[in-house]
Amino acid sequence: MKTIKKAIIPAAGLGTRFLPATKAMPKEMLPIVDRPTIEYIVEEAIESGIEDIIIVTGKGKRAIEDHFDHNFELEDNLIKKEKFDLLEKVNQASNVDIHYIRQKEPKGLGHAVWCARKFIGDEPFAVLLGDDIVRVQEDKGEKPGLRQLINEFEKTQSSIVGVQQVPENETHRYGVVDPLTVEGRRYKVSNFVEKPKQGTAPSNLAIMGRYVFTPEIFDFLDKQQIGAGGEIQLTDAIQMLNEIQSVYAYDFEGKRYDVGEKLGFVKTTVELALENEEIGEELYKYLVEKVNARNLTY
Ligand code: G1P
Repeated sequence: MKTIKKAIIPAAGLGTRFLPATKAMPKEMLPIVDRPTIEYIVEEAIESGIEDIIIVTGKGKRAIEDHFDHNFELEDNLIKKEKFDLLEKVNQASNVDIHYIRQKEPKGLGHAVWCARKFIGDEPFAVLLGDDIVRVQEDKGEKPGLRQLINEFEKTQSSIVGVQQVPENETHRYGVVDPLTVEGRRYKVSNFVEKPKQGTAPSNLAIMGRYVFTPEIFDFLDKQQIGAGGEIQLTDAIQMLNEIQSVYAYDFEGKRYDVGEKLGFVKTTVELALENEEIGEELYKYLVEKVNARNLTY
């Protein structure tokens, strides 16, 4: 039985939704409270059993490599000041083995994944996108988002994409699946459609940035066909793969936070900050005050 040990994290996107904040800083480094968004993704990969991660970077993304590297000057400074708590937090990011490859032109998600093909070789692998953070309740037995897909892969040895339901008026922002049959949370799929026009989506099951693939996906990414938005789309290659081998969809457990757009990003920040030991309580009081003051003015 094959399992999944390697993962690709595409991080070469231009981050236009967050301009001008992302003019000189990668969007993956935007912090949710005190950790950059990409750290949540790397953490999910590791907790799912991934041993080797390759991040596909692009122009202006050096800060990501620096983040997952040791910063001896900073570490030395924290040791001298006996700030051991902070030192531990800072070092968490640098204790994982991460590899990097550059996508030389911004040709889309499918192309970014294709750039990592030599690192993957002839093995099944995972892909995690940074626009969605998935948080699960481990105390209720929920497994990390990607782990749930890997467990399914171990049963079926087939490619599988993570989906969740979204409101109908949001389907045009995602890749959407057309389900045929369902068994538990796993769907057999007839079609995968990237960003369907409003009112034309085959269902409200949207692809949520977690994938497990057999290496045959590269046969279709090799063709480099241009799809929606003038880019090489991963969803189009999935659709072609599904014609020769089943690609399942799995409605995974857990709460998904959309950090790929402004409002979602702010909501995620507030929710995670409210849970934060250091600032949660103060923030709660502040928010109540703000809401009350606003109610008085209206
Ligand atoms: C990408 C994928 C899309 C998926 C989405 C999830 O789109 O192409 O299929 O539903 O991520 O976040 P993007 O948001 O990069 O345009």
